[in-house]
Amino acid sequence: MKGGSMDAEKVDLTDVPLDTMRWAPLTSLHLRARESRFTESILADHAAVEALNRINYDFDTMDRSAKAGISPFMAAVRAKQLDRWAADFLSRHPEAIVLHLGCGLDSRAFRIDLPVGVRWYDIDFPEMIELRRKIYPTDRRHHTIGASVTEPGWLECVPDGQPVLIVAEGLLMLLPEEDVRVLLNRLTDRFLFGELIFDALAPWVTRFSDSIYWGVATGRDVERMNQRLRLVDEVFLTAHHRQVPIWRYRAVLHFMNTLPGVRSMARQLRYEF
Ligand SMILES: C[S@@+](CC[C@H](N)C(=O)[O-])C[C@H]1O[C@@H](n2cnc3c(N)ncnc32)[C@H](O)[C@@H]1O
Repeated sequence: MKGGSMDAEKVDLTDVPLDTMRWAPLTSLHLRARESRFTESILADHAAVEALNRINYDFDTMDRSAKAGISPFMAAVRAKQLDRWAADFLSRHPEAIVLHLGCGLDSRAFRIDLPVGVRWYDIDFPEMIELRRKIYPTDRRHHTIGASVTEPGWLECVPDGQPVLIVAEGLLMLLPEEDVRVLLNRLTDRFLFGELIFDALAPWVTRFSDSIYWGVATGRDVERMNQRLRLVDEVFLTAHHRQVPIWRYRAVLHFMNTLPGVRSMARQLRYEF
């Protein structure tokens, strides 16, 4: 793993109740590691494989739908698009600060080849960061902050003189719209310029889920929410179908991509400010 080494002792989660908060990040990590074991892996997330090896947990108890079928590929194409946008920004701004909001157990900081001047901040609730610190190294370039992103204080831990890349995968949809608005305004007020990349679900999804609060009907919605943000790219998740190496899943995704109501369910968005 780039960025340091970890000692061999395993993190034992066998008897830890996996509440919703720990469940989603652990499932995502498992999916990315699983996909990375395929010869034609999309993500090749070797850091996720190593991280998973550091955790003692009976993944057989996981719901089949959370670990098999098309799920690992969906997780991989979703992460890959954000990685591409992130790598592109960092190649143009090799002194940037990265705020990885709601990082969970994602190994993005180790998947992307970071220019030496980049400072990476993984931010999540204190309990999640405590777990994260046991499975990933921190060093001069990789930092962690345990806090709710909706609280203002944590931003004081981050220098503000450089360009900023804000990455939020699987996070903003969990926040009420007003919290998203306040957070985005706080971020764009604090930094001179940068980019924001994240994924979003359609507003109708909020009606069918107890944990999804904020939906995006079009990328322009976010521009209306925050006057500084300018939409530069918008991609439907199903549009990544060509990357999927197994033809039957590729065909499913391709078909979903032909149905406007289905493809607009999940999208990825990129803004500059
Ligand atoms: C669906 S998981 C996604 C994790 C990671 N980004 C990934 O793709 O694997 C959502 C993450 O957001 C974190 N989260 C939710 N609300 C948060 C908040 N208010 N402040 C900080 N983190 C939050 C959760 O703890 C969890 O790790």
